[in-house]
Amino acid sequence: MNLRRFFILAVIVIAAAIYHLRPWSVDLPQYSSQLTNQWLNQGWSNDDRHWFHHATQGTNTFGLPYEWFIALEQPVFVPWAKMFADQDYLARFGFIQSPSSLADRQNASRLGFGSNPLPAAYPDSKHRWNEFNLPVGFAVSGDWYDPRTRVDLPIYGTGRKARSLGLTCAACHTGQLEYESNRLLIDGGAGMISLDKFRVALQTSLKYTALSGKLLPMPHWVPTRFNRFAKRVLGDAYADESNRDAFKQQFMELAGHLKTQAELEELQTKLPNAVEEGYTRLDALNRIGNEVFQAQMGIRENMHPISGPVSFPYIWNAPWFNWVQYNSSIMQPMVRNLGEAMGVKGKVNLVDNSVQTFDASGIPVEHLHEMEMLLRGDEHPLKAKEFRGLRSPRWDKPLPELDASRVQHGAKLYSEICVHCHLPPLHAADRKIFDEAKYWQTPTTGLDANAPAVKEFQALLKVSQSKEEKFLALVTKPVMDIGTDCRAAYDMVYRTVSTPDFIGNSGTDLRPLAARGPAPAGCELPTPSPARKDGFRLTNFGVALGEVVAKTKQHWYEATNKTGKEQLAFDGERPNGIRATVAGKYPYDDPRAVDRELPAYKARPLNGVWATAPFLHNGSVPNLYLLLSPQDKREAEARMFWTGNREFDPKYVGYAYRSDAGTLKDVPLIKDTTGLFRLDTTKAGNRNTGHLFTKDETAAGRIGREFTDEERFAIIEYLKSL
Ligand code: HEC
Ligand code: HEC
Repeated sequence: MNLRRFFILAVIVIAAAIYHLRPWSVDLPQYSSQLTNQWLNQGWSNDDRHWFHHATQGTNTFGLPYEWFIALEQPVFVPWAKMFADQDYLARFGFIQSPSSLADRQNASRLGFGSNPLPAAYPDSKHRWNEFNLPVGFAVSGDWYDPRTRVDLPIYGTGRKARSLGLTCAACHTGQLEYESNRLLIDGGAGMISLDKFRVALQTSLKYTALSGKLLPMPHWVPTRFNRFAKRVLGDAYADESNRDAFKQQFMELAGHLKTQAELEELQTKLPNAVEEGYTRLDALNRIGNEVFQAQMGIRENMHPISGPVSFPYIWNAPWFNWVQYNSSIMQPMVRNLGEAMGVKGKVNLVDNSVQTFDASGIPVEHLHEMEMLLRGDEHPLKAKEFRGLRSPRWDKPLPELDASRVQHGAKLYSEICVHCHLPPLHAADRKIFDEAKYWQTPTTGLDANAPAVKEFQALLKVSQSKEEKFLALVTKPVMDIGTDCRAAYDMVYRTVSTPDFIGNSGTDLRPLAARGPAPAGCELPTPSPARKDGFRLTNFGVALGEVVAKTKQHWYEATNKTGKEQLAFDGERPNGIRATVAGKYPYDDPRAVDRELPAYKARPLNGVWATAPFLHNGSVPNLYLLLSPQDKREAEARMFWTGNREFDPKYVGYAYRSDAGTLKDVPLIKDTTGLFRLDTTKAGNRNTGHLFTKDETAAGRIGREFTDEERFAIIEYLKSL
């Protein structure tokens, strides 16, 4: 073979190899660092905000220590890639950039904290919340521990141990919108992140690093990807051969374990009924279930498909809701927050060694309470006559000015049509929400007085000489009635988990409840549940989770000697109410209708909703205009649409979601769809049906008459004003 032929052949082989490795790169949308960032004024000081963004919940979300995370390179097939933890890179997954400290004035101002980010009263040394320089919602905490052996991980030759890295509330509950040259940042808003993309990218980066260590066992002074990685983790200790060898073995073992975990996680997204989450969504409840009952308990058959992704909800005022979660299933803030912390790999011992089973000493539970208090505010709204804590964002400059007469027209329509489900606005000038008793109820309203959770609550009230507080009585609508996608609500009724006897689950089965009513299309069949086994108990997933979290919480209260009064405060003055259905009649128009227990969604107060597209619990409708339009219009315009783009559209109120001209005039078009997620609303789990205002009186999920365009825009204008 002559040299030329050899050369051409070599080029072809290399090109084929690169092509083959293409799936090994992760497409991501671009991020512009040119925009002017601005955190909106929502009642928090800069210090509160920065603390909330980075306060740890003791989580180990990605299964690998912080020291490794910051030593990894981006998953691209080039000899020298940039760092994975670069904030510019992480922003492309939808995370929000954050300064390492508010004392770093220049960066803090650039990242939206105003011209005077740190008041003199806060010494930087005590308020250094992000010394690790990671985006909003990333927190570093105590020692990392190996999920297989539950022991720490030494960083050889340094005398140090690796630390945990995980997500906290703000990763998922902070919103952002880009408008003209601005990026508006919204605390408690709807996250724009894609955690599935992030997971794949991280795994791919580990894969490159491991392969380079395995396939290119070069001397330590050759800067291969693996050697660069090892040197970053070990620092000076890299000079020593025994450290290098020990580290390599440690890395290969753990990377192998993480690969197995990643394969299991991927399987959850490939099982029948699985639905891709994409940007702006997460199947939080099923993922928590898989983490706690499958991964942490090591019970493979408890795996459930990721089948009911939901849009990250806004959480301002949520501490005052009588029930939370889209399906109105959880009552107590501590059970919700601790359950969530366990879901993102907070450290809890769920193996049987009796004294320490349910030990949650790795989770700073007091932080969960402080976070809740920041959201809630220091006084009851009925007393303060306003909602304190985190407030919803106000529509203001640089967004275009509101049209006052339209707002007024919209207010009238809202009070005629929407208010009986969505309640009077929570911070408008009219005082209805504070003045009318019907909007508030005590937490035990409607609960069985003999239920153990209610009895425990009554006992706590008694020892702490307190009485029941009142919370907002939100309206729930059975899925059959509201007609939106059924998955998220029905999953919670159908899913069961199998737990060993020492966990002590009650064996409650809720499936018969749902079986009594006809199920909507896409939710007819119960998802398969694990087989019964001796020494194990099958329990409804939601109930089982509530029970496990409550035991973990109680273990912590006892270990830290909390008084009854303190426990009551940590519990948010509520019993551990868990449900998957609400009472209702079905069919509604039938005089012989009987009371049933039906899966449902709740109607949330709508202040600030303008900043939280896409809409409905599953994020299936891209803007408010389409939410107020009949089904055929939604189909024609947004049967498929892109998520992950952040360009805000103040007219129809949502993000730019199309790359080609549609039926609506002057919706901004996406110029480059690289890396965005295409949401297909024809798939069960993604359906954009229901909550319909249409003249077709037989349409499923119809809740009101059809609007004219003028009316639609009037309602939208009013919603912007809330
Ligand atoms: C990994 C992402 C993630 C993290 C971290 C997270 N959440 Fe959530 N949260 C969600 C999702 C998704 C939902 C909606 C779940 C559902 O209703 O099915 C939710 C629901 C909620 C709700 C209920 C809202 C409503 O209207 O019913 C509240 C309140 C809440 N979260 C607060 C918190 C707090 C406080 C923290 C931190 C202690 C936290 N979340 C951490 C993703 C997250
Ligand atoms: C019959 C009760 C009912 C009426 C009337 C009603 N809604 Fe709703 N609304 C709901 C329920 C229930 C949901 C949650 C549905 C879901 O997420 O699947 C909802 C969801 C929404 C959402 C989406 C919120 C989010 O999380 O994305 C918006 C916006 C909304 N409604 C606006 C309105 C407006 C504006 C009106 C009046 C024109 C109205 N609704 C009338 C019950 C109602």
